[in-house]
Formats: sequence, structure tokens, C-alpha cells
Amino acid sequence: MKKRLVILGAPGAGKGTQAHKICELLAIPTFSTGAMLRAQMEAGTELGTKAKELINRGELVPDSVISALVEAELKTDRYRGGFLADGYPRNLEQAHFLDQVLKDMGTQLDAVINLDVNLEDVVGRLLKRAEIEHRSDDTEPVIRRRLQVYQEQTEPLVRYYREAGLLINIDGNGSIDQVWENIAAQLQ
Ligand code: AP5
Repeated sequence: MKKRLVILGAPGAGKGTQAHKICELLAIPTFSTGAMLRAQMEAGTELGTKAKELINRGELVPDSVISALVEAELKTDRYRGGFLADGYPRNLEQAHFLDQVLKDMGTQLDAVINLDVNLEDVVGRLLKRAEIEHRSDDTEPVIRRRLQVYQEQTEPLVRYYREAGLLINIDGNGSIDQVWENIAAQLQ
């Protein structure tokens, strides 16, 4: 069974929503670099203050910061039996770093789930979420910058993982339940 996974997709593609369902099905823990950064922001740490400024502009946080967070997290006992990485890696440098950390741990990724969505539709999803959750990066100009950063830096990972034979491409445009059915069918 696949136990070491990444979930990829544009902002608002449904990574977090589907990550929880996948983790329940496979009985593995998840970690989200976005959630880790927001926790630092809420705690008011120096890292959180620096990250907030970048996140609120829709830019990525530097690889060195993310790598240190992820390496420390992955090396805890919690992830010994597997994991689902949500929102990480975000560019090729991070993907290479993850490959190396896993190699050092004597393991490797089993699969990468890519949620393929219409980028115009996710703007609406995120604006709707902003009304409920008030996430500071869910404003239209910032959402559009996040999508641009996704296209420039994250989308190349689709090809990277396809060439590695790890990619599971999922149509992420249907309802939450439809998307979940497609993912579950691929994982079982
Ligand atoms: P992060 O927190 O990872 O945000 P993101 O990638 O922009 O993704 P979202 O959380 O907005 O969306 P999602 O795909 O998880 O969708 P969700 O399930 O929530 O990152 C935030 C920022 O942190 C980045 O911009 C960057 O600055 C920084 N960062 C994070 N990781 C980094 C890294 N590795 N390197 C550098 N910087 C990093 O769903 C969204 C909404 O849509 C919800 O309201 C949900 O209910 C709804 N929804 C979900 N699925 C559907 C569906 N099928 N139909 C209709 N609605 C749906």
C-alpha cells in the first residue's frame, strides 16, 4: 500500500480537504507547510513575522526556511509509518531536497496525487472561503499572485513526478465527494 505521498495542486485545488480523507483511509498523518507557517504567524515568532509578509503578498517563503521545518518534522517518530505532504514541495529545489531527506532515511515517495483544476474556478472557491475563515491571503489580488507563482514554480513538478513514474492525476473540478471518489479509486 502507498504510504508516503504528496498532494499537489493550485491554491484552492482542494489539497487540504482531500488530504484529511486520504489520511483517514490510509491511516497516515499529514503535514501542511502552509499550516506550519500559519502556526508560526499566530505564535508571533520571528519566522512567523517574516513568513507573514511573504504569504500576504502571495510569494513563497524561502526554500531554506521550509527545508529546515520539513526536515525536522519528517524526522520525528510520527511519520515513521508514512505521511501525506500537503503543499510541499512547491518547486523543483524543494522536490530534490525531499528526495534527499527520504533517501537519507532509507525510503522514498510512493506516489504524488495531482489535483488538476480550472484555475479560474479556484478564485471563486477561495473568495468564498475568505468570507468564512478570513485567511489574510484570500483576497483577489493575492489569490491571483498565488496562482501565478503556482504556474511558474509549482506546476513544473507535475512533469517531474510524471517522469519519475509517481504521478496520479485527478480531475479536481467536480464536487468534493466526486473528487474524493476518484482519489479513493486510485489508492485502493
Ligand atoms: P497553503 O496553505 O499551502 O495554501 P495553498 O497552496 O494556497 O492552498 P489552499 O490552502 O489555499 O488550498 P487547498 O488546495 O488546500 O484547498 P482547500 O482544501 O483548503 O500555503 C499558503 C502560503 O504559505 C503560500 O502561498 C506560501 O506563501 C506559503 N507556503 C506554504 N507552503 C510553502 C512551501 N512549501 N514553500 C514556500 N512557501 C510555502 O480548499 C479551498 C476551499 O475550497 C475550501 O473552502 C474548500 O471547502 C473548498 N473546496 C475544496 N474542494 C472543493 C471542490 N471540489 N468543490 C468546491 N469547493 C471545494
